[in-house]
Amino acid sequence: MTYENILAETRGKVGLVTLNRPKALNALSLAMMREIGKALDAFEQDDAIGAVVMTGSDRAFAAGADIRDLQEKEFMHLFLADFPHGPTEGWHSLNTMRKPVIAAVAGLALGGGCEMAMACDMIIAAENARFGQPEIKLGTMPGAGGTQRLTRTIGKAKAMDLCLTGRMMDVQEAERSGLVSRIVPVAELLDEALKVADTIANMSRPVVYLVKEAVNVSFSSTLQEGLRFESRAFHSTFATEDRREGMAAFVEKREPQFKHR
Ligand code: CAA
Repeated sequence: MTYENILAETRGKVGLVTLNRPKALNALSLAMMREIGKALDAFEQDDAIGAVVMTGSDRAFAAGADIRDLQEKEFMHLFLADFPHGPTEGWHSLNTMRKPVIAAVAGLALGGGCEMAMACDMIIAAENARFGQPEIKLGTMPGAGGTQRLTRTIGKAKAMDLCLTGRMMDVQEAERSGLVSRIVPVAELLDEALKVADTIANMSRPVVYLVKEAVNVSFSSTLQEGLRFESRAFHSTFATEDRREGMAAFVEKREPQFKHR
């Protein structure tokens, strides 16, 4: 399928979504968000795909929601559409999909761009990456996780600092704060992200789903509830063929052949 604002392609078992509005620094227009949703839905439904990478350009992952799209919007429109979480937008697909999504971030990840990277399951960043929630400078505020995911990830002090001043943080600060899992040179970003995604795509898919769900449950549960969920999920891996294969392969000193069953 071809799109106007993104590129969607496959690299082996990995789906790759490239945001492609270079003139607007990949600002997330409504049209682009709908295309992202369609591309993610297609990868989610494709049995040959085990993980997804989302990336932008060397200059910008995404410089936020498209301010020109939002400029004339009124409360009632946004409220009735449940923007940005409504069912037709890319955010909905990103928030609900089971396959892991890796954000490969070079350059700017601002506003909705930072929020989109955080809605992914992991952020791998290039040395030139910069993150920020500058919405307050526009007289508005983060609306897609900037006050929530950011706070849970980097803590109150830094989340308040970023959301209240609109300042950007560089990649070292982002990594120190726990927002970014790895920093790589710009030229190696995509290869590294694809390699990580391929590693995940070769694991047992049901177990990948359980791990992603269990990590995410930690954000919405008490420790007791989370530990209970985790142990139940762990028990359920013993109902899979892949767990049997994984342990047999270890004992027999060979690579496991997971069948996603
Ligand atoms: N929306 C629409 N267009 C944008 C954009 C955005 N978020 N960010 C950049 N652009 C456009 C610029 O308007 C410009 O287009 P023209 O050449 O047609 O004028 C082009 O991208 C290049 O941008 P600049 O010339 O401004 O480039 P720069 O290097 O001087 O500055 C920047 C880069 C600091 C990112 C600056 O563009 C900027 O401040 N952008 C806005 C960032 C922002 O406020 N993002 C938050 C948006 S609101 C949001 O995301 C809401 C939410 O949580 C759901």
